[in-house]
Amino acid sequence: MSRTVYVNGAFVPEDEAKVSIFDRGFLFADGVYEVTSVLDGKLVDFAGHMKRLERSLTELDMPSPASTEELLQIHRELVTRNGLGEGLIYLQITRGAPADRDFVFPDPEETAPTLVLFTQTKGIVDSPGAATGITVITIDDLRWGRRDIKTVQLLYPSMGKMMAKAAGAGDAWMVEDGEVTEGTSNNAYIVTGGKIVTRHLGNEILHGITRAAVLRFAREAQMEVDERPFTVEEAKAADEAFVTSASAFVTPVVAIDGVSLGDGTPGPVARRLREIYVDEMKKAAV
Ligand code: PDD
Repeated sequence: MSRTVYVNGAFVPEDEAKVSIFDRGFLFADGVYEVTSVLDGKLVDFAGHMKRLERSLTELDMPSPASTEELLQIHRELVTRNGLGEGLIYLQITRGAPADRDFVFPDPEETAPTLVLFTQTKGIVDSPGAATGITVITIDDLRWGRRDIKTVQLLYPSMGKMMAKAAGAGDAWMVEDGEVTEGTSNNAYIVTGGKIVTRHLGNEILHGITRAAVLRFAREAQMEVDERPFTVEEAKAADEAFVTSASAFVTPVVAIDGVSLGDGTPGPVARRLREIYVDEMKKAAV
């Protein structure tokens, strides 16, 4: 069945949606995005995603095409029109389509931003990765220096997923100066010495919305959290590991570069945090 998607003010069938070939998202990856999960037809942590979107736009000096309230209405309308119970909503804003290709940003008075949203049906709560855990390989982090901005420049993460696939692994963790930054599309954690360790916030990683919620829940459950870099060696020797994202929630990692963690099955901390996250987010979803 064809989806109804949203493009610049209109809800249209997906095969009728159009964006100009001069759009800066297409030519320069000059765009930002958000992925919000949907549970029971409701939006998970919508406020968090909109706050980060606002920040990404500000950092790139890009105008916003709609208010948070308008974006909420568009998200809800897409859920309704597509009968979405569980899955994701993808939102993208680009600097729009000027009359011609030019590296210089167009005048925002003359070129309006492009706003696109669409739904993706996906089982997130009962995903195979949650039950068995995933394996990861480590690769060099070759991305640019502003990974805190959620831009659509996803070629390297995409290549990382392909390297993982070629190695028979579920994903790749990226490494800079011997330390893990994050997964190709998620934040990375280990559990060692009784503490949950995850890299501190900075320009080197995306400030995950799921990360913020999971760390809050962990602290509320009296788990110790250490926000600091960790090395690949430390990760391989850890008791357990996991990743978080809007599309993976909390997903256990059971092996790194072929080295099994613990007994090679999802660890208790990851399983507990996933349970808490799903419960709490279902309650708070809008
Ligand atoms: N990715 N780090 C990176 C590089 C990411 O791309 C993502 C999300 C995260 C987790 O952020 P959050 O918890 O806010 O989803 C961390 C999304 C899901 C994607 O690109 O599909």
